[in-house]
Amino acid sequence: MNPINHVAIIMDGNGRWGLKYKKSRNAGHKAGLNTVEKIIRETIKNKIKYLTLYAFSTENWKRPKKEINFLFSLLENFLVNKIDDLHKKNIRLKIIGLKRFTKKLNNLLIESEKKTSRNKRLQINLALNYGSKYELINAFKSLQKNNKQISEKNICKYLLTKNIPDPDILIRTGNTKRLSNFLLWQLAYSEIFFEKKLWPDFNEKDYNKIINKFKKIKRNYGNI
Ligand code: FPP
Repeated sequence: MNPINHVAIIMDGNGRWGLKYKKSRNAGHKAGLNTVEKIIRETIKNKIKYLTLYAFSTENWKRPKKEINFLFSLLENFLVNKIDDLHKKNIRLKIIGLKRFTKKLNNLLIESEKKTSRNKRLQINLALNYGSKYELINAFKSLQKNNKQISEKNICKYLLTKNIPDPDILIRTGNTKRLSNFLLWQLAYSEIFFEKKLWPDFNEKDYNKIINKFKKIKRNYGNI
C-alpha cells in the first residue's frame, strides 16, 4: 500500500456548476467552498499531512472584475470566520503565490499564516496568484544571483514549495485534462486523477475512491 503524504487539487468546474444550477458563476464558487471544507475534513480523517489547493492562478486575473472580487471576498470571509477553527484543529495554512492583493487581504493572509505556523496535523497550501512557470523562472534567477549550481536539490530550495514533499496525487475535477500551469516541477512523479464531476459536486466518496485506487498503484519511478 502506498503511503500518502500530499494531495494536490485543481478545483475546476465551479463556474459551469453555478451557471447550470443557479444561473451565476459566482454561486458555483460559493458552492465550491463547501466542497473545500468537506475535503479538508476528509484529508484529516485519512491522516494526510499536506493538501494543496489551486484557488487562483496568475492567469485568472483575465476574468471579469466582478468574478475576481467575488472570489477574494469569499476568501476574506473564509479567513475571518474559519481561521480560529483551523487553528484549533491544529491545521497550518500556507500561501503559495504572490501576495499582491488588497492591503486588507494581504494582511489577513499574513496573519493567518503566522497564527497557524506551528500547527502540525495538516498543512494546507493555498495556491493563490500562483503560476508554475513564474515560480521556476524565479528559482533559476535566484540561483544565478546567489552563484549557486543548477541542481535538482538547489532548484527545490528556491521553489515556493520549499520543504514541502512533492504531491503523491493530483486530482483535477471538471472533466478537463490539463495542468494549467500548476506545480509543473513538483508533479513530475505524481499519480494524476482526472475527475468528470464539477468541483461543487465532488464529495468524500469520490475522494476516498481516488485515495484507495492510489494506494494500490505500483509506483516505479522509472524502475520496473
Ligand atoms: C475553477 O473553476 C475554480 C477557481 C478558479 C476558484 C476556486 C475557488 C474556490 C473553490 C472557492 C474559494 C476557495 C477558497 C479556499 C476560499 P472555474 O471557475 O474555472 O470553473 P469553470 O471551468 O466551470 O469555468
